[in-house]
Amino acid sequence: MHRRDTSEVAERLHLPPEAAAWVRGLDGETPPEPRLPPYVEAPALLDRLAVDPRDVAEILAGWPSAEWPPDLFWLLGKVTAAVRADLGGAGWLVPGPSLPRDRGPAWRHFYVYAYLALLEDVRAYHARRGVPEEVSWTTLADLGRNLAIDRRMNGEGWPVMLQWLTLHVRGAIYELGRLQFHRRRTPESRSLSLHIPRSGPLTPPSCDASFARARAFFPRHFPDEPYEEITCGSWLLDPTLAEYLPADSNIIRFQRRFELQPGGEDGTEDFLRFVFGTLATPLDELTARTTLQRAGLAHLRAGGRWLNRTGRIALDGRP
Ligand SMILES: CC(C)(COP(=O)(O)OP(=O)(O)OC[C@H]1O[C@@H](n2cnc3c(N)ncnc32)[C@H](O)[C@@H]1OP(=O)(O)O)[C@@H](O)C(=O)NCCC(=O)NCCS
Repeated sequence: MHRRDTSEVAERLHLPPEAAAWVRGLDGETPPEPRLPPYVEAPALLDRLAVDPRDVAEILAGWPSAEWPPDLFWLLGKVTAAVRADLGGAGWLVPGPSLPRDRGPAWRHFYVYAYLALLEDVRAYHARRGVPEEVSWTTLADLGRNLAIDRRMNGEGWPVMLQWLTLHVRGAIYELGRLQFHRRRTPESRSLSLHIPRSGPLTPPSCDASFARARAFFPRHFPDEPYEEITCGSWLLDPTLAEYLPADSNIIRFQRRFELQPGGEDGTEDFLRFVFGTLATPLDELTARTTLQRAGLAHLRAGGRWLNRTGRIALDGRP
């Protein structure tokens, strides 16, 4: 197909205003076809990516086919090409418009198909960097974890996840044991940015082991970008938590590793996302089951808020 008029694409897809504006802003050139893995290999691949069987069923049901609106397939090519163009990049990237996901599995999992279409590229990138297979697949399997969170959050968290998942397929993030390390180097800082996935308790030995792996991993696989420190920006570092949680809890012991930077931003939304799995539920309808949830609610109901604070650790482990 030749050039498309992007206004017509937006109209034919009946996109909501924001998504329509995004599509109108694209150039009309035909992108390369997205290179999806063969459909027959998809179930095994999705299993390897830790995708829950319920999500696998939906992803297969919506799999790109002749039944897709041709414009949607065109858009998939555009999104895939845009992310691929930044392979090896590590900044935050909005890959494409926020689509109406309630139109069925093809729409719901549009960005999963983009992720799958980029696997070959990122796997080749990992191979060029000598990243071990186990690290490569463990890192990429964050897809399944995020889809599970999305399911739990009834889709509320998806816009953030869209951006998040572009890190994995650009080789920007690596899961090394308990923690994820994001190559977030800027001209001003030689920092790895730390992320804490939802994968069981944050025990001190699991963190020690993960930091030790990062110390060896980055000089070996990214010798051209030396790192000096690890920074973490998270609700987990709000010092107010120490007023509520026991001193020997994993969160408080995790906090003690970091030198806090001044300032901070409102992290109440992140707190609700990661501790209650919801953004839209009114406070008085939330049920607290754990110490942290009870504390979190009491704090919010008393008019308090939670902060995202940033802390740093030298990469060699010294504070
Ligand atoms: C980070 C994380 C693993 C810490 O969990 P942990 O190791 O159990 O932490 P602690 O031992 O300090 O927990 C202390 C108490 O808070 C509870 N708690 C901790 N994190 C919780 C969470 N996310 N949701 C609900 N309760 C939580 C624990 O259950 C425990 O309460 P209990 O004694 O009544 O069971 C957990 O919060 C988590 O999975 N978070 C999601 C990911 C995340 O927030 N990443 C950071 C993004 S910026």
